[in-house]
Amino acid sequence: MKHDPHDPVQAATAVDPYPYYARLRTERPWYFDERLSSWVAASADLVERALQHPDLLVRPPGQPVPPALQGTAAGAVFGRLARMNEGVPHAAARRALRTVLAAWQPAEARRLAAEQASAVWAARSADDAQALYRVPLLVMAQLLGVPDGDCPRVARQVEAFVACLSPLSGTAQLEAAQAAAAELSGCFDRGLGDWAPPQDPGLAREVFAANLVGLLSQTCDATAGLIGNTALALGRDATLCAEVQAGRQPLDGVVAEVARHDPSIQNTRRYAGRAVRLGAGVEMAAGEAVLVLLAAANRDPALHAQPERFDARRRQVGHDGFGSGRHRCPGSDLAAAMTCGAMAVLVQQPDRLCSAAAGFGKRPVYRPSVNARIPLLTL
Ligand code: HEM
Repeated sequence: MKHDPHDPVQAATAVDPYPYYARLRTERPWYFDERLSSWVAASADLVERALQHPDLLVRPPGQPVPPALQGTAAGAVFGRLARMNEGVPHAAARRALRTVLAAWQPAEARRLAAEQASAVWAARSADDAQALYRVPLLVMAQLLGVPDGDCPRVARQVEAFVACLSPLSGTAQLEAAQAAAAELSGCFDRGLGDWAPPQDPGLAREVFAANLVGLLSQTCDATAGLIGNTALALGRDATLCAEVQAGRQPLDGVVAEVARHDPSIQNTRRYAGRAVRLGAGVEMAAGEAVLVLLAAANRDPALHAQPERFDARRRQVGHDGFGSGRHRCPGSDLAAAMTCGAMAVLVQQPDRLCSAAAGFGKRPVYRPSVNARIPLLTL
């Protein structure tokens, strides 16, 4: 087809990747992509099997840290993140996250996000979308107890740090990421934001500090994308926007449906630690990679009734945009709460949302990424 992406990685930032995903699901739910040198899983069933399989790992065997980051401050943080670990180290890092996340109420995150979004709105700069995308990061810094005056600096450093998580980053970005990683982990290690490491003999102090940085970096792009894609969904549908504004349609339902229907994280990767068999004819040799198409699973009719339809009252069942299995996102409630808080401010200006969506329709561009879907909106 004329507008088909070249491959499933490019699909993440394509204008409308969903017909392409639908064809993969029906025609090639499991295949080897020569361009990507990777297997691709596109049906909800295979996506689920891949995410649940104990021998499909988040990093290539023997390479806990990407070569470009080895021996650097960013590499040290990277190697300690729950997201990048398996087995015993994963359990320790996940405990660190549970400790922190258990202390926060989604309602508080929602309130703080509304406050931050109002401040951005009141300031009205030339680059409002960028500022809005920073709202979740500022909220997360506040929740971590970073003093208000330091939050913007921490947010800028996290934005620099996340460059090291993307294979699209160049040398200059990687260098900036090193400096940011050193400063951020140093700050948290010295007790920035009054987080004493928990009394847990299995949890090293530096693992705890790295995962505090991880909470901020995981928040960054994914939640920015959810805010942007929700702004688009509401800007494109004046009736829905009016219903939300009048309080007849709760924002929670809209945000949950955007997370499924047009998710900000479109895919993830796994690597076979040993030979793996996911089903008849679905096999991987040790060391091989698989690109797991979360966004294709989200619209699989085997799981969701009329999956292409946007239905803010839908009861969400599985594959909701936040992954599955042992690495499923522990921040999903928080992310939804922050997005609702920010959107509660935006829906008060439906005309602005509508013209942002119309402008995006004329020039639909997403921020370059191999897995995140963040629209470049002019709000
Ligand atoms: C809309 C926003 C978000 C989306 C769409 C999202 C999505 C995801 C997905 C799909 C995964 C699984 C990755 C994989 O299996 O390879 C994940 C993991 C993770 N997310 Fe999120 N996330 C969001 C926001 C957040 C926030 C706000 C936090 C922090 C509070 C967070 C923390 C994490 C962590 C720590 C992991 C790794 C967990 C582990 O490996 O055990 N995420 N996220």
